[in-house]
Amino acid sequence: MPESQAERDLGGFDLAVVGAGAAGLWAALCAAEAGGRVCLISRKPLAESASFHAQGGLAAALDPDDSPALHAADTIAAGRGLCRTAAVEILTAEGPGIVADLIERGMTFDRGPDGSLSLALEGGHSRRRIIHAGGSQTGREITGSLARMVAEEPRIDVIDETSAIALWSDGERCHGVITDAGRIRSRATLLATGGAAALWRRTSNPWGAIGAGPVLASAAGAELADLEFCQFHPTCLSAPGTDVDGALITEAIRGEGALLLDRSGERFTDELAPRDDVTAAILARIQEQGGGEVRLDVSMVPPGRFPSVFALLEHAGFDPRREPVPISPGAHYMMGGVAVDLDGMTSLPGLYAAGECACTGLHGANRLASNSLTECFVFGRRAARAGLEE
Ligand code: SIN
Repeated sequence: MPESQAERDLGGFDLAVVGAGAAGLWAALCAAEAGGRVCLISRKPLAESASFHAQGGLAAALDPDDSPALHAADTIAAGRGLCRTAAVEILTAEGPGIVADLIERGMTFDRGPDGSLSLALEGGHSRRRIIHAGGSQTGREITGSLARMVAEEPRIDVIDETSAIALWSDGERCHGVITDAGRIRSRATLLATGGAAALWRRTSNPWGAIGAGPVLASAAGAELADLEFCQFHPTCLSAPGTDVDGALITEAIRGEGALLLDRSGERFTDELAPRDDVTAAILARIQEQGGGEVRLDVSMVPPGRFPSVFALLEHAGFDPRREPVPISPGAHYMMGGVAVDLDGMTSLPGLYAAGECACTGLHGANRLASNSLTECFVFGRRAARAGLEE
């Protein structure tokens, strides 16, 4: 890149958001709606982020038989007692309001025959509290809707197919972003770059999830936290040598009855225990049986409930209605990231972070399934609002 290109002045904004997954799109919208002039920088065209691929849904205490306190207790148990309780309380209290807000904005979530929201079960949840859109296509539906709203918002300038190469920091404060297309001045900068699980060879993540946000933040002088905590998803497709090796088979399918079977066809664990327990049980069983495979039997699940999963398995050459499919764990989600407070503020003034690249301490050592999309909305909005007050 010619030097002059990175030095081009791309203008000044109240908030520069780096990353266009659920957290980035939503934070940009919230800031614009609050009157801010926002710039959204995205490496890819809008809506092709890790959130786009998310099969899981949004966890929120929506059932009359559920409560934020029960959701909080499940979150803390899954997090192995290492969650920041204040962050858990905020997520679980604000989750139901976020769902109502999204519905009011026209997002459609899956509903049962009586018209009420379908609430799914995933590992570690003591109640049905996960909402989905389009079965296992929640990420695609949500990021698609958000991208359309962002495109219609005149206060947001989208700079896509552009990479942030550094934060504009003097070591005391962040003043904006240096991209490969030029410099952006901003009163506040918000990182929403997603995760880092694609640093592992076997991963459920798209290739771009390599920790860009924490790298930028650390180079600019901000603190990172909890980087030792990476979550392994138990059921990634095992199809070595194919383009779908490591593809995620959503946990919600186990919530509908799918079973884990060892080489002798025997069940060996509680399929709906928290993810770290299920992953550990699979690895132990593979060792005990002297290698070989563990399989997931999805034959009892109606394919129409998870059309994209069944399509993926068929594309990979399996007939999941006739025989269990081979799976093994893959790196899936980083609990650690850029250390932030409850308003997304990092240790570097002027710099904020939200979504998977941030570490509020919400997830402790192990994220409860489907808390992450909820986190993008709850903490993305808080960070956007705090950033605007800079
Ligand atoms: C899944 O659908 O199993 C993944 C969802 C999540 O990571 O929360």
